[in-house]
Amino acid sequence: MTRTMIIIVDFGSQTTHLIARRIKELGCDIKIVHPEEILKQIQNDKPEGIIFSGGPASVYEKNAPIVNKKIFSLNIPILGICYGLQLTAHLLGGKVISGKKEYGPTKLKIQFSNGESKVKIAKGLPKSFVVWMSHGDEVIKLPKGFRIIGSSGGVPFAFVENKNRKIYGLQFHPEVEHTEFGSQILRNFIEICGLKVIPENKVELGIKNLELRIKKIVGGKDYVIGAVSGGVDSTVAAALTAKAIGKRFIPIYVENGLMREGTKKHVIRIFKKIGIKPVVINAVGETLLRLKKITDSERKRKVIGNFYIEIFEREMKKLKAQKLSVKYLLQGTIYSDVIESQGTKYSAKIKSHHNVGGLPKKMKLKLLEPVRNYYKDEVRMLGRKLGLPEEFVNKQPFPGPGYAVRIRGEVTKERLKMEKKADSIVLSELEKAGILPNIFLSFPVMTNAYSTSVKGDGRQFGEVVALRVVESKDIMTSSWARLPYEILQKISSRIVNEIPGVSRVVYDITTKPPATMEWE
Ligand code: XMP
Repeated sequence: MTRTMIIIVDFGSQTTHLIARRIKELGCDIKIVHPEEILKQIQNDKPEGIIFSGGPASVYEKNAPIVNKKIFSLNIPILGICYGLQLTAHLLGGKVISGKKEYGPTKLKIQFSNGESKVKIAKGLPKSFVVWMSHGDEVIKLPKGFRIIGSSGGVPFAFVENKNRKIYGLQFHPEVEHTEFGSQILRNFIEICGLKVIPENKVELGIKNLELRIKKIVGGKDYVIGAVSGGVDSTVAAALTAKAIGKRFIPIYVENGLMREGTKKHVIRIFKKIGIKPVVINAVGETLLRLKKITDSERKRKVIGNFYIEIFEREMKKLKAQKLSVKYLLQGTIYSDVIESQGTKYSAKIKSHHNVGGLPKKMKLKLLEPVRNYYKDEVRMLGRKLGLPEEFVNKQPFPGPGYAVRIRGEVTKERLKMEKKADSIVLSELEKAGILPNIFLSFPVMTNAYSTSVKGDGRQFGEVVALRVVESKDIMTSSWARLPYEILQKISSRIVNEIPGVSRVVYDITTKPPATMEWE
C-alpha cells in the first residue's frame, strides 16, 4: 500500500476531489478525510502536509464543520483554501465576517515576489494574475504571526502565511483550471512539505485496472445492461465494460425525444465500432406524456430518472425470460455529477444529475459506474486510449434529461420543437464559423420569459431564447465564450426569423461559479 503524503480535510467543497486530482498530478498520494477524523488519521498516516478544502458553511454557523485546534500545533504544514482559510483564521484568533460575496475571476496582486523576500509559497508567481473566487465570508483580521502575501481588489487577505508555523491560506481556489498559477501554488506547498514534485507524473488512467475492477464486480456469469446516450461518458463506460465482459454487456438506448437530432444514428455507429449492437427503445410519446404539466426542474429529473429505470427493469425481465441473469445497470456517471448531486458529507446539493440523484431509491438493478471518480477531460483521455474517434471524444456533453432541462417550465411538443430548431441553428452556425471544436458546450434555453417583438409590422409577444456558449475542461468551472459579434448576430437573426414564437435572443455572460452551465 502506498503511504498517504497529503491529507485533504473535506469541508464539503464542490472541488475537494479536484484538489486531490491536482495533488496527484504533482506526484503525491492523497487521502480525503472528514474533519472530525483528522487527528486519528494523522496518527495513522503521518502525512507530510494537510490541506483544508473549502465548503458551503460559514464558521459561525451552529453546525459548521470544524477541526480540533491541536492540529495547528503538530508542526505539519497546512494550506487552508476558502472556508479552510476562514476556519484557520477563526480558530487561531483572527476575525471572519459575512463579507462581500465574490464569485468568478478577479486579479490577485502579490506583495512579496520571489526575488525580494524568498517567500517559498509564492515561488515562481508573477506580480499579478487571475484567480477564481467563490465565497460569501471573508477574513478581516489575521491571527497573530500571519502576514499578507497577496490581495485582490475586494479581499485584502486573499493569500496569507504564517511562515514560522508553515500555515498558509488562500481565499481563492488554486485547484480550478481557470485560476492562473494555481498549480504553481500547490507545487510550492508540496515542496514546503518536503515532498518532491514529479512533474511528468500524469493522471494514472489505468485502463487495465478499470477492466479488472469491472470483471471482479460483475463476476463470470452475470449480465450488465447499460444506459447509453451516445455521449462521451456513457460510451467510455460502455467501451470499458465491453472490453471487460464482452457480449455479457447489453447497451440500451432510449429514444425519448429529448436528445439531439441524429443521436440514435450516432449511437448505432459508435457501438458498431465497439463491436456491440445496442437495443433501441422508442419512448418518445410516453416521455412527453409523463412530463405533462411538470414545471419544476428537479421533478423533471426524477420523472425522467424513474421512467428510465422502469424501462430498464422491463428489459431486464425480458432477458430473465431468456434465462439470462442481469444484475447491473451501467451508467456513465462522472465525478462532477456526483459532487453536484451532494456526493460528500458536508457538500451542498446543487442539482440531482439524473444518473446520480434522479434515480429511484428502490431499484432492482445494482449500479455499475466505472468512471465515477473521473473528470470530463480524464474521461476524454480514456476514450482516446480506448481508440474512440477524436470527433467523438471531443463531443459536447449533453445532460441526461436532455432538452427537458433546457426548456424552463412545461415541456410541450411545440416548445420542444422550438428548442430543437434553435439548437440546430446554434450548432450549424458555430460549425460554419469553424469554432465548434473550441466550444465546450453550446445551447439555447427556452426561458419561459416573454417579450414584445415586431414582426412584419405586427406585434408579437413571444418567448425569449437565451444563448449559452461556454468554455471549460473539467466542468468544475467555466467561462462564457467570447464569440465574434457577427456570429452572435447571425444566430440571433436566424432564431427569431426561423422560429415563430420567439421574440428575442439574449446572450448569457455569466461564469461558473456562480452560475451553473445549464439553467436548471
Ligand atoms: P452544470 O449545469 O451542472 O453542468 O454546470 C455541468 C455539466 O453537467 C451537465 N448536466 C447534467 N447532466 N443530468 C445530467 O446527466 C443533469 O441533470 C444535468 N445538469 C447538467 C451539463 O450539460 C454539463 O455538461
